[in-house]
Amino acid sequence: MPVITSIDDLKAIYRRRVPAMFYDYAESGSWTEQTLRDNSADYAPIRLRQRIAVDMTNRSTASEMLGEPVAMPVALAPVGLLGMQHADGEIHAARAAERFGVPFTLSTMSICSIEDVAEHTRKPFWFQLYTMKDEDFVRRLIGRAKDAGCSALVITLDLQILGQRHKDVKNGLSAPPKPTLRNWLDLSTRWGWGLAMLGTKRRSFGNIVGHVAGVKDPSLLSEWSATQFDHALDWSKIARLIEMWGGKTILKGILDPEDAKMAVKVGADAIVVSNHGGRQLDGALSSIRVLRPILDAVGGEIEVSRDGGIRSGQDVLKALAMGANGGMIGRAFVYGLGANGEQGLMTAREVFRKELDTTMALCGRRRIAELGRDILLVPEDFEGRWRRD
Ligand code: GLV
Repeated sequence: MPVITSIDDLKAIYRRRVPAMFYDYAESGSWTEQTLRDNSADYAPIRLRQRIAVDMTNRSTASEMLGEPVAMPVALAPVGLLGMQHADGEIHAARAAERFGVPFTLSTMSICSIEDVAEHTRKPFWFQLYTMKDEDFVRRLIGRAKDAGCSALVITLDLQILGQRHKDVKNGLSAPPKPTLRNWLDLSTRWGWGLAMLGTKRRSFGNIVGHVAGVKDPSLLSEWSATQFDHALDWSKIARLIEMWGGKTILKGILDPEDAKMAVKVGADAIVVSNHGGRQLDGALSSIRVLRPILDAVGGEIEVSRDGGIRSGQDVLKALAMGANGGMIGRAFVYGLGANGEQGLMTAREVFRKELDTTMALCGRRRIAELGRDILLVPEDFEGRWRRD
């Protein structure tokens, strides 16, 4: 393994190891990918204030998310098909999160099931829910998450219908991959991936297969979401889901201050400011740009995390200093997982921790709670002057 000094190093290895179809799945945004690009690019104009002659001993990146102590306020976001990025990917990711003391979120569209992950971990994880038309399936899914001891329910609200990612359509994305000539040719150059896959029985959507009757082809995310996801989801249904769960709830996919206020009203414990990593509404603003107006709208009444475009500990720090309680990383941890399983994830964590810690120190701060807007230099028009009629 070469010397890894940044998340980009892991991405380069990940790209060589994983079938193109799954690399494209993780990397793509919807349509023109403008929002995907903005998510990362919009961090750059925010600069940092260097402060000197501050005692830097006993620094710590430790904090809390939803009342749980965390080694660094960065949760692993729900990512579909993780078990296709690496054999048993969800189990590896959950174990790595447990080892480094941050929350792991299991996606509804995971390869390893809720029960699989619970069986192979000791600490409770968060479960991400996609709401389906089949209310009985949703009720059972919530029950399974409760039985597995999940400590929070993350309800994703920005994917009632799937945004189009061109490459997934062209690649015929499926889990497992279909035995086409193109796929065989691609797989023939990814031996490590293929051998590990042959060694596991988990190769299709574990939360779904065997749990729903009459599904035509559960291997296709696009078909499943088009036919099964609940297009009628509204705030009253969200309130019912929160009540049904009865535990800590995080609403993910909030990008507008009005929706953030509604999240407070229905009793969520936290929100994730998110445009689904630029994978849903192309043309939406980046999540870092809308963060401040949303924080102002909720006025500290609930915890606010954000995701989208976070590729370094510096990005994490900028959002925290702006006022977020934490962040979620998706692609950045997938690169580690795809590059080298659980160990690759530990490497990704070390990269993030070091960047966050060093940046805190050079900004003259020793604790996460000391990070404030006073260490940021934000362009005056950062939020943009958009005309809203
Ligand atoms: C699912 O969450 C996706 O973005 O593909």
